[in-house]
Formats: sequence, C-alpha cells, structure tokens
Amino acid sequence: MSDLYSPVRLGDVDLANRIVMAPMTRDRAGPDDEPTDLMVEYYRQRAGAGLIVTEGTQPSPAGKGYWRTPGIHSPVQIAGWARVAEAVHGAGGRIAMQLMHVGRASVRANKAADAPTVAPSAIPSPDPIPGPDGVPVPTEMPRALLAEEIPLVIDEYATAARNARAAGIDAVELHCASGYLPMQFLSSNSNQRSDGWGGSVAGRIRFVVETLTAIAGAIGPGRTGFRICPGVTFNGMADADPAETYSALLRALDPLGLAWCHLIHVPNAGFDSLELVRANWSGPVIENCGLTRDTAQDLIAAGKADAVSFGYAWIANPDLVERFRKGLALTKADRTTFYTGHGDDARGYTDYKEHP
Ligand SMILES: Cc1cc2nc3c(=O)[nH]c(=O)nc-3n(C[C@H](O)[C@H](O)[C@H](O)COP(=O)(O)O)c2cc1C
Repeated sequence: MSDLYSPVRLGDVDLANRIVMAPMTRDRAGPDDEPTDLMVEYYRQRAGAGLIVTEGTQPSPAGKGYWRTPGIHSPVQIAGWARVAEAVHGAGGRIAMQLMHVGRASVRANKAADAPTVAPSAIPSPDPIPGPDGVPVPTEMPRALLAEEIPLVIDEYATAARNARAAGIDAVELHCASGYLPMQFLSSNSNQRSDGWGGSVAGRIRFVVETLTAIAGAIGPGRTGFRICPGVTFNGMADADPAETYSALLRALDPLGLAWCHLIHVPNAGFDSLELVRANWSGPVIENCGLTRDTAQDLIAAGKADAVSFGYAWIANPDLVERFRKGLALTKADRTTFYTGHGDDARGYTDYKEHP
C-alpha cells in the first residue's frame, strides 16, 4: 500500500514523497518582477516537499495582474529563477513553475504601462483586485483577443516554458483555474466568441488543449502538467455546465501523455470533480483543497490520488513533511502577511521556523 512518504514518478519527474507544495502567490518579487534572495530562501526552506509548484508566474507582461508577482520572460527573471532552482535542488527537492496569465483579472496599476489587458471576450471580471497599496480596485475592461493574436499568446507560454527549463526548473504547470486566462476561455460566461476559439465546448477547450500541446512540444509532455478547478466561481466564473466542459477537456488532453492533472477539488461544484477526473483522464493526479494529513493519506492509500498538495500548511510549516511524519503540531499561518507587496519583507514568509 502506498503512503504519503513513498516516492512517485509524475511524468519525467521523480518525487521523493507525495506531499506537494501547492502554488501560492506571495507578492514579493523584485521591481523587475524577478525572484529575490528572499524568494530563493523561501523555496529552499520548503525543499522537503516531494515537489514544489511555484507561485503563479507570468509568461509575458500582459499576463501580469497582481502587484509584485514574478515573471519568466526577461533575462533577469530567468537568472533569478535559476538561483531558486539551484537552491531547491541543492536541498534535495524538485520544483515546477506554475505559468499564470491572468487575462482580464488584472489591475492597470499593477503592470507595465504598455501591457494590454486581454481576454477571450470584452467582458470584465466583477471581482476587484488589490492595487500596489493593497487596496482592492476594479479590474480593467479587457480587449477581446483577435483570432490571429491567440497563437502568439500560446507561443509566449511555450517560450516561458523553455525559459523555465533553461533556468533549471524541472517542469511547468499551466494554471487553468481561478478565473485566469485559460479558464476564461473554458467558461461559457466569459467566452462568448463565435469563431473557432469559443461557442461550442470544442471551441472553448481549444485554447487549453493547444497551449498544453505547444508547451509539451517545447519541453516534453513528461515535464508538462496543468491545474484545473471545475465549478469554481472565483473571478466571475460561471460555466453553464462545468461537468460537460471538463469531461471534454480531459478526454482531449489524455492522449498527450502529460505529467499530471493538479485538481483543486471544491465541494460545491454540483458533482464530484475527482470522480470526473478519474473517469476521463488516465494520467497522474495531484489532489488539493482542504486536506489534512489523514484525509490525504487515505486518498493515497485508496489509490484515488498519486500525490496530494497543501497550500496554507506550507506557509507556516517549512518542514511540513517531517511534521506529518512525526505527528507534530502545525503552526497556523498569519493571513495578514500572505501578500505584503514588498520584495524585502521576510515577515510571515521566511521567518517561520522548523519544529524544535
Ligand atoms: C496565499 C495564497 C496564494 C495562492 N496563490 C495561488 C496561485 O498563485 N496559483 C494557484 O493555482 N493557486 C493559488 N492558491 C491556492 C492554493 O494553491 C491551494 O489550492 C489552496 O490554498 C487550497 O489548498 P489548502 O486547503 O491546502 O490551503 C493560493 C492560496 C493561498 C493561501
């Protein structure tokens, strides 16, 4: 019987254990959206994870929506990520980069002045997002991507994946959840295109299928994963039939032989999304959301998930795997320091200690 502490292979990536660190935006990049020394230290401290999935990282200036999030499209950013990868590998860990293009979920003041705000359709996100001073402001009205622009956005993702590999990152994960650009294409309310990139289910899943095909072509399918959250309503998502959309998506992705499907399993989707994934996808599954050590162990033992990921628990417990293994108490994370917006702010970031 498999347990949390047993090794597993996801695509071409060997994990020493099945406890993954979920991607978490922390708003502490440097002024050029580059990883800082503090970020190197933060990830190094958490290298005991079987796999770290980095915070959402923009593939292009237009992909940025939040203040002080890192990118992977300039030399200084690639150099910064190379130092992160080296530190994690030096401590025996593995690291994948989450590629996150926010699309319409973007605040003008958070990104470069000439970076456009684009989406499948010119429909704004209803949810405000914090600006540079941390106060939430309305998102910008997006411009609908022209059909001839969409392959260029897909190319940016493929280039970003190559950049991540050049920096020594082991794999990439396409962020298709939380109402960002790929999910804006998937959802019927945010994608009202009448060309081949919208309309029918086949049209709405096309952007994700073609982007993952391009990334897999650039760095190999065994180093390409993706993250979904069927049924989530964050950032104004309201798909008419998420079970239909995601069943079709997973069936279309299955033949690509990708490294993993990382599922954010929300309880209020109206269906069991883990069952939906298992019915339509034959590759490895990383299960997430609200797990405890014991519920996670049960999922692994039952063979329902190949690995599990934790978000909150990793913030305040850099030695989470050891705490689970030894049954030690977990430290509670301070929510007020999740996103401080300052690249040199160690509070609630690198100052959580290992269990004595
Ligand atoms: C501070 C914070 C930042 C997050 N940023 C991201 C992100 O950049 N990308 C993403 O896919 N999920 C993000 N999430 C969601 C987590 O990856 C995870 O799905 C969520 O915390 C649920 O897992 P948990 O119950 O173990 O915390 C974030 C969560 C937190 C708490």
